[in-house]
Amino acid sequence: MVKISIIGLGFVGLSLTSTLSSKGYKVVGIDIDEKKCEKIRNGITPFFEPGLERILKKGLKKNLEISNDFSLINDCDLIFVTVGTPQSKNGSINLSIIKQAVSSIGTNLKKNKKNPIIFIKSTVVPGTMKDVILPILEKKSNKKAGRDFGLISNPEFLQESRAIRDTEFPHAVVLGGYKTKFMKKAKNFFEKLHPNVPIIITNHQTAEMIKYANNSFLATKISFINQLSNICQKTPGANVDDIARTIGLDPRIGKLFLNAGPGYGGSCLPKDMKALINFANISGINPTLLNAVEDINSKQLEQIITIAKQQLIDLKSKRITVLGTSFKPNTDDIRDSISIELIKKLLKRKAKVTVHDPRAIKNTRDIFGEKIIYAKSMNDALLKSQCAIIMTEWTQYEKLNNNNFKHMTKKVVIDSRRMLIGKQLDVNYFGIGLGKEK
Ligand code: UGA
Repeated sequence: MVKISIIGLGFVGLSLTSTLSSKGYKVVGIDIDEKKCEKIRNGITPFFEPGLERILKKGLKKNLEISNDFSLINDCDLIFVTVGTPQSKNGSINLSIIKQAVSSIGTNLKKNKKNPIIFIKSTVVPGTMKDVILPILEKKSNKKAGRDFGLISNPEFLQESRAIRDTEFPHAVVLGGYKTKFMKKAKNFFEKLHPNVPIIITNHQTAEMIKYANNSFLATKISFINQLSNICQKTPGANVDDIARTIGLDPRIGKLFLNAGPGYGGSCLPKDMKALINFANISGINPTLLNAVEDINSKQLEQIITIAKQQLIDLKSKRITVLGTSFKPNTDDIRDSISIELIKKLLKRKAKVTVHDPRAIKNTRDIFGEKIIYAKSMNDALLKSQCAIIMTEWTQYEKLNNNNFKHMTKKVVIDSRRMLIGKQLDVNYFGIGLGKEK
């Protein structure tokens, strides 16, 4: 039976580890962090992802091993690399973690009696496979790629909060590399794993670029609708959602990722945009469109701050409630969350901030400590508040009504996701992307 190892147990790695092992594959999940491994071995996921813990437990009952020992890759047929590629200060990607991971793989590959296929799932800029990863692997292992082991770029498209579904049912599988026996084997593996899913076979550089194209296009869609949303807001009666819903019916446009809001956040879109911009500049291409997309995103919060300032005059000492700190609903992830940016800006203006989030309070506290107040319930969060700002579209916020708002001292509600639109509310309501009738 094919034996698989997965290096790096973050969102992508742990979802793949759990999914493959729950399907009965013999899997070893490897991470250098032993504390994390211990947790996972006990069936506890280090972060919140719907459905992941259940699938992990299913895998643990079968053939799943979790370890920090890289030598366990020695009898594996397939090795997936899913470590993070964070952002450096200048916007480029930091390859130190992946270099370390492939270096350990290379050292162990020396002793590997099989001819494994190594899949790089981590997001890396075009050329990284050929110029960085392949040379490290060949040097450390004393073996030749394409002859002694396979090396395939295999970018990942899963979204947090739906990681399990996306891992099981991806919209496409991209395999980048040379057309060797290894590529054939890889194709067979994925055809069996995901019947009826298109498999795109291309070279390394193109596969690496596809990932950036995907994420930067999504970011472009969001900035496009956010710019329209800002125009709508200045146009009495205009409604950005009706516009998005209608243009989304045109199959050439598509309805997804047209939800206007406070800007895109998370650990991927902002980082990948910066890396692609950096890569374009190095390549001698001025990425004017990408720059504009990023620029719109970085200014999107101004819409919210402006309304708050207009309504409260001065933010100093004003009690402001931020509803939702995670970068999107159904996750506890606050990395590059726009809501965290907002809180920082409010604190800079000396506002008194109270936050509520169904899942992300612990992570939020790790950033702000005693500087802000953490409310357990929506009512507690709104008590004596002068302004409530809905940032993350958690479904619980859809239920907010006059009862929740009644103990606010000044009833200003800024709804960056238009969740309360159409409700008869006894508040001064501002929906981002809605032109207020005069
Ligand atoms: C994103 C991509 O969607 C995945 O395909 C990709 O695999 C992943 O990055 C990655 O590179 O690892 P993710 O970071 O989980 O996934 O988040 P998204 O669901 O894309 O949301 C990103 C941000 O855009 C969030 O802040 C969200 O609120 C915002 N957004 C999204 C909008 O403001 N409007 C929309 O219509 C959609």
